[in-house]
Amino acid sequence: MKTALITGGAVRIGAQIVKTLHESNYRVLVHCHQSKEKAQTLCDELNAKNSNSAEVVCADLNSVSQINKLSDEIESLDLLINNASVFYPTPLSSATHDDWDNLINVNLKAPYFLATELSKKLTISNGSIINIVDIHSERPLKNHSIYSISKAGLKMLTLSLAKELAPNVRVNGVSPGSIVWPQNKGAISDNEKRVILDRVALKRQGKPKDIAEAILFLVRSDYITGQIINIDGGRTLNQ
Ligand SMILES: NC(=O)c1ccc[n+]([C@@H]2O[C@H](COP(=O)([O-])OP(=O)(O)OC[C@H]3O[C@@H](n4cnc5c(N)ncnc54)[C@H](OP(=O)(O)O)[C@@H]3O)[C@@H](O)[C@H]2O)c1
Repeated sequence: MKTALITGGAVRIGAQIVKTLHESNYRVLVHCHQSKEKAQTLCDELNAKNSNSAEVVCADLNSVSQINKLSDEIESLDLLINNASVFYPTPLSSATHDDWDNLINVNLKAPYFLATELSKKLTISNGSIINIVDIHSERPLKNHSIYSISKAGLKMLTLSLAKELAPNVRVNGVSPGSIVWPQNKGAISDNEKRVILDRVALKRQGKPKDIAEAILFLVRSDYITGQIINIDGGRTLNQ
């Protein structure tokens, strides 16, 4: 079995990526930070289908030492999915240094150091990396400048790593449009949701499965590297 590490794999889009890769015969390392119980429940379900095929790994991706520890713990790896992310508004008038550190560290610095620290193991397996970007890596989301900057950086990181790690490791990205509404500090009003959906050419949200299937396509496409696919229902046509 090939092994995949999925960061932020316990819930929402990450959990669907975990399930889809597992159905495709991957052994999954389900990374989490706060969602330990949900990660364990998901792994229990997957291990019931196929024993020893899923394992929880925990790390705060805002911590250099925990990123290092996570990378060291992994023995061999075929696929790294950088999915974990922080999303909330940071209007210029109130954004703090802590906001900058949190959003940039989790969304950009952690994918960089996970990729570099795991690159030897990925080279041995001829593996690949998929970064989950955002269509707002191209055009900024109002009031979310630090998030938009982090995702623009992640887009360039994808292209840079594709060059740096070739020919042994392929590096690609998937840029979701509106797939699952943001929660907690990132939550938006019903009116804001209507405005977003009105700009989506297909007039509906995507599903986590749309992201997971695009990932599977990239993982299986042996001659694609340095590409980022928008999965956005045509939202970028009207952005
Ligand atoms: N949802 C969408 O429609 C949408 C749109 C565009 C782009 N995206 C991108 O698609 C990916 C998945 O989206 P999502 O909405 O499913 O993500 P999400 O729920 O906002 O976040 C995914 C996970 O990131 C983890 N995370 C956050 N801070 C962390 C930290 N300090 N250390 C370790 N893990 C941390 C959390 O894990 P724990 O719960 O374990 O703490 C969280 O469950 C993200 O990269 C996102 O930017 C999503």
